[in-house]
Amino acid sequence: MTDRRPIIAANWKMYKTHLEAIQAVQKLSYLLDTADTEKTEVVIVPPFTALRSVQTLLESDKIPYGLGAQNMHPDEQGAFTGEVSPLMLVALKVGYVIVGHSERRTLFGETDTTVNRKAVAAFAAGLTPIVCIGETLDQRERNETFDVLDRQIKVGLDGLTREQMGLLVLAYEPVWAIGTGRNATPAQAAEAHGHIRQRLRQWFGAEAADQCHVIYGGSVKPDNIRDLVKQPDVDGALVGGASLDVRGFFEIVTRSRPAAV
Ligand code: PGA
Repeated sequence: MTDRRPIIAANWKMYKTHLEAIQAVQKLSYLLDTADTEKTEVVIVPPFTALRSVQTLLESDKIPYGLGAQNMHPDEQGAFTGEVSPLMLVALKVGYVIVGHSERRTLFGETDTTVNRKAVAAFAAGLTPIVCIGETLDQRERNETFDVLDRQIKVGLDGLTREQMGLLVLAYEPVWAIGTGRNATPAQAAEAHGHIRQRLRQWFGAEAADQCHVIYGGSVKPDNIRDLVKQPDVDGALVGGASLDVRGFFEIVTRSRPAAV
C-alpha cells in the first residue's frame, strides 16, 4: 500500500436496534485509542434507524469514526415509498454509503446500472460511495472472475471523474466468501485486488488508481485480517458478521495497522 490509510468498515446489515448500536459504539470507543484511529479509519455502517443516534453520539463524544449508510435511492426526493435519499443522509452528516452490496444485487435486483446511478448520485450529494463488486462461486469456477470485475467496474463506475475515482472506496467482496466463514485466501485477494488496481490505472489514470481505496470483504475475522491487509493492494476491509461483536471488531481494527503487520 502506498500512503492510503486503511479503512475498516463495520457493515451491521439488519442487526442492532438504535439502542444496541449506541451501546456498541460506546464500547468500541472505550477500547480503541487515538493511535488506533489515526492509523486506521473506522467506519460504522448501522441500519437506517440507528444513523441519527450514532451520529449524535459520535459528535457529542468526539469519537472520530466515519458514519455510513447501507443503501440509498439515487433521486433527491420523490414518491418512492420506503426509500431514503442522498440528501437525507447528508443532512444526518453521513459520510459514506454502501452501493451494490451483493445482498442488494441478489435479493433486491440491483444491477450494474443501478449501482452506477447510485454512485453518481452519492458523489453529487457529497457522499463517498463504497461500491461493492465481486464474483459468485460459479463465475470463479468458470474462470470468469476478471471479466465479471471488469464489467462491474466499467458499467458501475461509468462517468465518474478521475477526482471522484481517487476518493472512491471499492470493496472487493467475492460473493462465495460473504457470510460463509470461507474467506478468500490472501493470494486470491492479492490477485483480484492487483487486477482491480491495474484496471483502475488503465481506465482512470495512475493518480486516481493510487488514491482509490480497494478494501476486501467476505468472512473477515480477527484471525485473518493481518494476512489480508499485508497484501499490497488491500487497503482495509468491509466486515459483516464479525463486526457485530465489539471486541472482535476492535481486534480487527488494531490488527489492520501497517505497524501491526
Ligand atoms: P461477512 O460480510 O463479513 O459476514 O462475510 C461481509 C459483507 O457482507 O460486507
